[in-house]
Amino acid sequence: MTLMIEIQDLLYSYPDGTIALDSVDLHIGKGEFVVIAGRNGSGKSSLVRHMNALLLPSGGCVSVNRLCTLQKKNHPDIRKAIGMVFQGPDSQFIGMTVEEDVAFGPENLGLPPLRIRELVEISLEMMGISELRFHSPRSLSGGQKQKVAIAGVLAMEPGCIVFDEVTSMLDPFSRKDVLDAVKRIHAKGTTVIYVTHRLEETINADRLVIMDSGKVVADASPRDVFLQHDLEMYGIELPPVVALSRMLTRAGFPGIGIALTKDELLEALCP
Ligand SMILES: Nc1ncnc2c1ncn2[C@@H]1O[C@H](COP(=O)(O)OP(=O)(O)OP(=O)(O)O)[C@@H](O)[C@H]1O
Ligand SMILES: [Mg+2]
Repeated sequence: MTLMIEIQDLLYSYPDGTIALDSVDLHIGKGEFVVIAGRNGSGKSSLVRHMNALLLPSGGCVSVNRLCTLQKKNHPDIRKAIGMVFQGPDSQFIGMTVEEDVAFGPENLGLPPLRIRELVEISLEMMGISELRFHSPRSLSGGQKQKVAIAGVLAMEPGCIVFDEVTSMLDPFSRKDVLDAVKRIHAKGTTVIYVTHRLEETINADRLVIMDSGKVVADASPRDVFLQHDLEMYGIELPPVVALSRMLTRAGFPGIGIALTKDELLEALCP
């Protein structure tokens, strides 16, 4: 697998002296779907902000497509390669209409007008919001705003998109909608890094990375992380199905192990 993001021995302390990241090693390959989870303040946002040079290492190094973030001349290429979507996108809107807003990124990249129209079209379609194109982004609901923000990043065609808690303010249906869109984006070949508190959103991921006190404390497939780690210790709630399958296994039910989905659990209970 081709490496996209290489993080080696990363240390980061904020200007006030808070050490947010300590000896972090993480390698992310092209096309992976990596979930990063951990309690509040564990360093998730500080970590992902290093991936497009919004933060620069105090120690160690971060490279994207072999370009080191410490060299300023690399920043335009790095920021083109890694798109970022944050929670509560209000402050990120620039255009008067959804369409203008989504066009802003590709315009900034200096693409020809026809190509921009095409990219806007594809991105709105991908997020299922084509009918909102003439609305003002500010007049939309939280879930719709989040989709516009994602469409804006998609339109720049980054090889990798980082989603930092993009569903945390959404109701269960909008959350599923946005998560489905993220899965579609990944299925088209984009590398996805998805930060969340909700582990039930991680089931489809190739990898689950757990952060605690600025360190990576687990990095494996979701099933292996659930099997090998006591996540409550890191302030993380297990997805209900996983918690139930673990309780059943401990109570002596044979053949369940760790079920990741309701269907898996049902299959294990009534084969
Ligand atoms: N601008 C800042 N200045 C000083 N310390 C900060 C700053 N931003 C974050 N921190 C500290 O760095 C540590 C890691 O914070 P970070 O925001 O990366 O955590 P997080 O895992 O994203 O948390 P959350 O789940 O709440 O988003 C915390 O101790 C936090 O208090
Ligand atoms: Mg955060």
